[in-house]
This record gives sequence, structure tokens and C-alpha cells, in this order.
Amino acid sequence: MSILHLLRTVFTNLNEDHFKILHIIEKNLTKFEVVPLEVIEKQSKLDRPSIEKLLKKLNFYRLVWSPRGREKGCLLNYNGLDLLALRNLVKRNIVESIGKALGVGKEADVYEALSPKGEKLAVKFFRIGRTSFRGYGKKRPTLYSIHSHLYASINAARNEFEALNLLHPEGVDVPEPIARNRHIVVTRIFAGIEIPSAQYIKNPLKILTKILDNVIKAYEIGVVHSDLSVYNILVKPSEDIIIIDWPQWVKKDHPMAKIYLKRDLTNLIRYFKKRWNIEIIPRKYQSFLDEVLGEMFNTA
Ligand SMILES: Nc1ncnc2c1ncn2[C@@H]1O[C@H](COP(=O)(O)OP(=O)(O)O)[C@@H](O)[C@H]1O
Ligand SMILES: [Mg+2]
Repeated sequence: MSILHLLRTVFTNLNEDHFKILHIIEKNLTKFEVVPLEVIEKQSKLDRPSIEKLLKKLNFYRLVWSPRGREKGCLLNYNGLDLLALRNLVKRNIVESIGKALGVGKEADVYEALSPKGEKLAVKFFRIGRTSFRGYGKKRPTLYSIHSHLYASINAARNEFEALNLLHPEGVDVPEPIARNRHIVVTRIFAGIEIPSAQYIKNPLKILTKILDNVIKAYEIGVVHSDLSVYNILVKPSEDIIIIDWPQWVKKDHPMAKIYLKRDLTNLIRYFKKRWNIEIIPRKYQSFLDEVLGEMFNTA
């Protein structure tokens, strides 16, 4: 079910009791592998037939499910988590509507959205472990892995939002953070595309130095991206850039920080050399590159 479908159909067909049940299941997932119906009964103060009816609908929309052999209990799906998080963002007047997909990646889906004031947003849903989630076929994931994937997605969103909040106020070119709920991060949209898709770049050296300036500034603030690639840098026709996708950032004093930073920079410089034959890095970056990368690069 697509997000749009989820919003249009599900929001209009669910009532407060459905959400009450979803909340109870979510809250109890830290205590149970599968939340027993008795627990839902006790905490919702609804009778068993009503709960079964509510669950039937939630199940129909694939918001919850009962693993085979565990029919007397429930688990949350990504759809259920999406709905709870979106509802929170709608209630807080952050998101009003969701539009087309901007990027559907391995570990996240990003959609265009509008705020109630009509501002354009990017809404990122983390989807860790999703591939093994699709269609509960023969190779169903273990219950443990389902829990851990939901929590890993929430954690990833938390990490990314933290990085954006450290970097954006200091003037590092990253998406402006607006809000987070559960596994969703909301930022202001950026009218650019990934560097490898951009055919309008006239000044690659200028772009590279902008990226280096941002990487150095982030490092001075204490943040190393750790998954930097040209696919995580968006560029506008004006050649303004932002660096996106920060869930795996580490602090500067992390034991692997320098190794990650070196890998980030090596990937970047290799790409600029391959696509534009840029081999010479301006002298002002010398001391930083020397410190972090040793004597790997020529500078002018
Ligand atoms: N703030 C934003 N503005 C515009 N597009 C964005 C924004 N954030 C992400 N995107 C789009 O979504 C894609 C995926 O985002 P990203 O954060 O890299 O997640 P992942 O690579 O884990 O799927 C990006 O390549 C880009 O096309
Ligand atoms: Mg990415």
C-alpha cells in the first residue's frame, strides 16, 4: 500500500478506537514479542468482541498483524508506525498533505509534502529491514528482527535529526530540520538533485570546494557524516548544494571517526577526478587533508 493510499483511505476509515488500539500495541511492544489480546482488553477498557472487530480492520489495512500460531496477539507493521507518526505530525500542524515520492532508497522513502502554510517539505520515512518485510512469504523474518527493525528505524531518524540540529544552525549546508516523530524526519525541501544526475554543473571545482568547506565545518563542530557519497549531495542549477542522509554520523572523537572521514573524502575526490579530471585540490585544504588523510593528495 502506498503512502498516499494509506493516508486517503485509512485516515478516513479509522476512528479514535482504532488509534487507541494501535497506541496500546505500540506501547507494549517493548514488553511483549506479540501483544496479547488480554493486555489490549485491559488497557483499552473495551470488550473482546469490539477489540476483535477493531483489529480486523487494522489487519485489513495491514497496520498490524498476528503471526501464524500467535493469533491471540498483535504486532505493528511499518504501515501502522507510518500512520501513528503521520498522525502526530498532522496534529502538530507540521504536515498537511503528502505528495509524490522524491526518492525511494534502500533504507528510506522520501516524499514531497506541504505544511499547513503551504511550505514545501521533504518527509523521510526510515525503512530499515524493509526488504525482508515484504509479503510475509516463506522466509518470514523472526519476531525479534521485526521489533529491532522498527526500533532501528526510529533510532536512525533520531540520529539524523540530531545531526541536522547540530549542523544547520552553524551554517553547514544540510536540509533545515523541522520535526521528527518516531521513524520520520521532516525537513525543508531543497530544489536540487543528486550530483551524478545533474548535467548542469559548470564549475565542478567550485562544487568540490563547497563540499570540502562543509565537511571541514561539520568536523570542527564534531560531526563526521560516514556515508558521504555524491548520491548524498544535492545540487541546484545555481550550484548551491546540501549534504543529506546523516543517520550514521559519528562524533569526531569516535574511534572510527578518522577512518570514516578519510573514506568519505576519498570517495568524493575520486568521483571528481573520474568525472571532471580534477586532480588538484586548492592549497587552503592542505593542512586539513594532511591531518586526516596523510600525504594522499596533490595540492596546488
Ligand atoms: N530535503 C530534501 N529535499 C529534496 N529532496 C530530498 C531531500 N531529502 C532527501 N531527498 C531526496 O530523497 C532521496 C533519498 O534521501 P536520503 O536522505 O539520501 O535517503 P536514503 O538514501 O537513505 O534513501 C535523495 O537522494 C533525494 O533525491
Ligand atoms: Mg542517500
